[in-house]
Amino acid sequence: MKLLVTGGAGFIGSNFILYWLKNHPDDTIVNLDALTYAGNLENLVEVEKNPHYSFIKGDITDSSIVEKVMQGVDTVVHFAAESHVDRSISGPAIFVRTNVLGTQVLLDAAVKQKVKHFHHVSTDEVFGALKLNTTEKFSETTIYDPRSPYSASKAGSDHLVRAYYHTYGLPTTITNCSNNYGPFQHPEKLIPLAITNLLEGKKVPVYGDGLYVRDWLYVEDHCRAIETVFQKGKIGETYCVGGLTSDISNLEIVKKIAGLMGKTESTIEFVKDRPGHDRRYAIDWTKIQKELGWAPLHDFDTYLQTTINWYKENQEWWKHVKSGEYQNYYKMQYNTSP
Ligand code: NAD
Ligand code: DAU
Repeated sequence: MKLLVTGGAGFIGSNFILYWLKNHPDDTIVNLDALTYAGNLENLVEVEKNPHYSFIKGDITDSSIVEKVMQGVDTVVHFAAESHVDRSISGPAIFVRTNVLGTQVLLDAAVKQKVKHFHHVSTDEVFGALKLNTTEKFSETTIYDPRSPYSASKAGSDHLVRAYYHTYGLPTTITNCSNNYGPFQHPEKLIPLAITNLLEGKKVPVYGDGLYVRDWLYVEDHCRAIETVFQKGKIGETYCVGGLTSDISNLEIVKKIAGLMGKTESTIEFVKDRPGHDRRYAIDWTKIQKELGWAPLHDFDTYLQTTINWYKENQEWWKHVKSGEYQNYYKMQYNTSP
């Protein structure tokens, strides 16, 4: 099988390529990635010489590149996106361009090339926010209510994917997944930001009161969920994918990380809140469990430690990431140097 992976140089895309080639060594992967600030070919050193893997630098909004790359492809796994909520607040336009227009360009090319399966990787943020201290969860029937430019652009892309299924008969599936963590995550995101700041002897910025809740999933479990949808998923369907079964606040997570790294709570610094900050996410993943037999295999405490160890052992990787464009972003976002 020939797969086109978009955004394969990012966090989840690169974990997916490494996972896929390990578990499906006869398949061929073409990775189309524009190498924005979030794309990093260092994530893929392990496979760069593999004859079943190739990389093409290109933008998913560029139809001439996309049409060329789509030739002979059986399956598309679409990760490419602008993915950071805070950046969508300071600069929304690129989010609409990449996430909405880019998805439509890919869908058009997939229809033309009669692709057999187009899988769209989406987020639980399209459903909006849940209240604290409730048992409410997002599921496949939750009404869309995106509240940031990022989640609104991802919601737009989800609607386009469904429209191409109904209108043009493109064989599509969608996963709406919760917060991922693990190796190769950009240090702009909470968990790697906390770990790398602590490794550098710096404070960890916590937004607002820190009582916001996310549903955390180890990245390999997300890769396995996408694999499961390819193997057993029903075309035209959407599957919600999540991790934790009980709520944990950002503050508790940051305290846990500090504890595991031998630091005190004085390393935590409360900073100004994210505008429109979604209070709580939680995912009901019953459908993918019951219909396809998927469940997360990696528990949070063990794999948080694994993630901390990875950042300790791969300091060159994140120091390189933090030394570039990240410096300006951090100053703008936190009003201080990284
Ligand atoms: P990321 O920001 O780490 O990586 C995005 C990748 O897309 C980068 O390699 C970047 O270079 C590439 N890219 C960006 N614009 C592009 C363009 N115009 N053309 C081609 N490539 C482009 O993102 P991630 O965290 O790996 O997320 C991947 C996907 O999963 C996204 O669609 C995101 O919405 C979704 N998702 C992420 C999470 C999470 O917790 N990170 C959870 C659920 C869903
Ligand atoms: O829910 C899935 C989403 O998870 C994905 O769709 C997004 O691509 C991904 O970035 C992630 O979004 P979040 O906004 O939830 O992730 P982030 O790591 O930016 O923030 C996690 C929580 O931590 C959130 O409540 C904001 C808070 N936070 C974040 C940063 C960067 C802080 O308190 N301080 C920080 O410095």
